[in-house]
Amino acid sequence: MGASVSGRYPLAVTGESSVLRTNIAGVMLRNPVILAAGTHGTLDEFNEVCPLDRVGALVTKSITPEPRDGNPTWRVIPARAGMINAIGLANPGIARFERHLAERLASVPTMVIGSVAGFSIDDYVRVVAGFEQVAAVAVNGSGSSGAGLELVELNVSCPNVRTGTEFGHTPALIRELLLAVRPAAPRLKLIVKLSPVCHDIVAVAKAAIEAGAEALTICNTIPAMAIDVESRRPRLANITGGLSGPAIHPVALRLVHEVYRKVTKDAHGTGRAVPIIGAGGVTNWRDAAEFILAGASAVEIGTALFADPRAPLKVVRGLERWVIRQRAATISELVGSMISS
Ligand SMILES: Cc1cc2nc3c(=O)[nH]c(=O)nc-3n(C[C@H](O)[C@H](O)[C@H](O)COP(=O)(O)O)c2cc1C
Repeated sequence: MGASVSGRYPLAVTGESSVLRTNIAGVMLRNPVILAAGTHGTLDEFNEVCPLDRVGALVTKSITPEPRDGNPTWRVIPARAGMINAIGLANPGIARFERHLAERLASVPTMVIGSVAGFSIDDYVRVVAGFEQVAAVAVNGSGSSGAGLELVELNVSCPNVRTGTEFGHTPALIRELLLAVRPAAPRLKLIVKLSPVCHDIVAVAKAAIEAGAEALTICNTIPAMAIDVESRRPRLANITGGLSGPAIHPVALRLVHEVYRKVTKDAHGTGRAVPIIGAGGVTNWRDAAEFILAGASAVEIGTALFADPRAPLKVVRGLERWVIRQRAATISELVGSMISS
């Protein structure tokens, strides 16, 4: 262990340590710890419980063209190692959210990643165009301040709505979607958030990258359900929902490893490096470090925020110590550095 990490670590961890700076599709994040879509409010409400100037980025709630109330309750229940949710994309719709985001963006102290959902290609184009509009008038501060709006994440993998997930399952559809969305967002980098249950995630990842995806998030929740055995009724009004939290971490880790090794590691033969953001069950820095070693350049934290809203700060601090212990100059040196032989 190096001298800098022996003894007590400074309490005032800023999250600004240069060893953690992370490049996602040309956009610099101050560190690789990102708040996952739908798990911390719609935009920056979480600042009250977790200082957002210490995290690398936040992903907004997934936004659809029209406002949505989502599914009836119950729509979130605890599971043995995580939770099952069937929120059903409750959100204010792009017109209202666009106004809100435009007003607030300059005061959000971290990078904002706009999450986009829909039920048709046109839906995605409309929402992406809304985010593009905000980016066009915003004074972005990436690079120096690590804040602004330069990335959108296409949620093609929400299991809690009747349609809208198919894009994430079929290479031809994901290609069609990206080719339509790309021209609507000339200023924004496109991240595609993949499902853990598609038939062939490698084929979907390849298709997404060929059609213009500049980063991938792996992964969304896993379809799941629970039954109350006394009433014999499903515990979620929607019957099924998405499982998240520690239960899915090993599954997500394997998917990151697979896509990194087979698709993004050699930049898919294009010479273009495509970063992966690992999501699924990150609760502590070790879970995050595992994702980095498997090939992720950053991680998202979702379910852990419900139990400990300051978990991201602990993950940042643990990663800083780990990078130093590994004697790496920056965390990017450790991306995909798992020793397998
Ligand atoms: C209550 C809840 C709401 C979610 N809403 C969204 C959403 O709106 N859009 C999205 O892309 N993912 C959504 N997710 C999925 C998370 O962003 C994340 O991909 C998933 O939960 C796995 O990470 P975790 O195990 O750290 O929670 C939601 C998850 C939960 C638990």
